[in-house]
Amino acid sequence: MLAPLGYFWQASRVPAQYSVMGMGYADFGGGPAVGSHAGHGEGHADHGWDGPPPQPGDTSVADLTGPRGSAPDVAVTLTARRQRFDLASGEQVDGYTLNGSSPGPEIRVRQGDLVEVTLVNKDVPDGATLHWHGVDVPNAEDGVAGVTQDAVPAGGRHVYRFVAEDAGTYWYHSHQVSHEQVKGGLFGTLVVEPAEAASDAPTVTTDIVAAFHSYSGKRTLAGRTGVQTLPADAGERVRIRVVNTDDGPLRSWVSGSPFRVTAVDGRYVQSPTDVRDRLLLVPAGGRFDVEATVPRDGSAVRLDVGGRTAMLVGPDGARAAASKEPKKQLDLLTYGAPAALPFDPEQADRRFDFRIGRRPGFVDGRPGFWWSINGKLFPDIPMFIVAEGDVVRMTISNGSGDVHPMHLHGHHAVVLSRDGVEATGSPWWVDSLNVEDGETFEVAFVADNPGVWMDHCHNLDHAAEGLVAHLAYAGVSEPYRVGHHVGDAANEPE
Ligand code: C2O
Ligand code: CU
Repeated sequence: MLAPLGYFWQASRVPAQYSVMGMGYADFGGGPAVGSHAGHGEGHADHGWDGPPPQPGDTSVADLTGPRGSAPDVAVTLTARRQRFDLASGEQVDGYTLNGSSPGPEIRVRQGDLVEVTLVNKDVPDGATLHWHGVDVPNAEDGVAGVTQDAVPAGGRHVYRFVAEDAGTYWYHSHQVSHEQVKGGLFGTLVVEPAEAASDAPTVTTDIVAAFHSYSGKRTLAGRTGVQTLPADAGERVRIRVVNTDDGPLRSWVSGSPFRVTAVDGRYVQSPTDVRDRLLLVPAGGRFDVEATVPRDGSAVRLDVGGRTAMLVGPDGARAAASKEPKKQLDLLTYGAPAALPFDPEQADRRFDFRIGRRPGFVDGRPGFWWSINGKLFPDIPMFIVAEGDVVRMTISNGSGDVHPMHLHGHHAVVLSRDGVEATGSPWWVDSLNVEDGETFEVAFVADNPGVWMDHCHNLDHAAEGLVAHLAYAGVSEPYRVGHHVGDAANEPE
């Protein structure tokens, strides 16, 4: 009885320093065995925690940077602090700020801009990074401690550079001890405005970012609890960019006017139609852009997120009564009009399973009832291996008893089906997908962004509990180590 238990305890232990490439086992998704993992089917068992040795001609993650040298179109410095601070609505929070506030500054750029952000860590003792959630940046700009860079220690700085290629709503957050730092406020929003406005859509004149976050139970929109009003004239077309920076799905709804969802996760919805009385379930990490017209009778458009936190958009003194949470959810599987995909998912080069479950066992020597991936526990989990250019299908299923917002870095995937029912609406592109208990999604994407990418649950506590896998490209080597110290900061991405 005790001997096998002792074995499982021992086998579950993670060394103080390791390469994520040394975790688990290579999964080639039924495609050819490529890259340094070829011939190393069972992961760290045969090549150790440093991962397979790089092969001649490999590119290091550290070299997969954005453009260097040329002058940026937008340059921003963000200074991270660990401190007590006041929310815009006055309540005190013990957490983290960027340039003195949380959320940090809203960054607005134009599509095509070369963006340069300098992260200065004033005094975050564990170190910090910035991850550009939903922006498919080059790998070395992705901001994951121990995977794409070392954590920036207190007193240090790091420069991120990338071209904002896709218009849309995004956010940024620390990816070092993220379950604590993001919760505590180390995040902000990023809007990429389109180079050219879509000509057939009504012109939006008021554009608002409404990031939802709860600071130890205080529910906020754009950093404020309670009901806030933003100015817009009667008849004006407004866009509200709803961003869920929390750990769980956000139940939100719009009242006062019909509305449409024009973009999801920074990708346009084709031919969105006006709806009323529909619940918008925004996955943790996800973004919905909503458009509506301010009524002409002096009332306001209203966004509710529950817990008496709401945003009104309308003329001075405009009112909009609280409305009940709608019973019916807007279903993106059928919303909008279909359009051709830029690739053929039927011609997939690799097919992966990402099966989330839960079972008793040990994770890093700790006994518990843990999240499992394809039946195994962290760190004995699949390393999804692809070659550049592959068309990839992934079946994500959840039988774990809880909801998981799944987030693949560096890529957008299109939803093909849910529980066997094919998607018939607008192509539904996601970087953050809510997978409820009992659900199965089929998604597809093109492996067009070489690197080593996290693919994890964005309930950041779940990630810290081991619901983390990686997508690795053949020909890319990993120089960073989880657990490696720079100053007082040891890389700890989750
Ligand atoms: Cu929002 Cu792995 O990140
Ligand atoms: Cu989860």
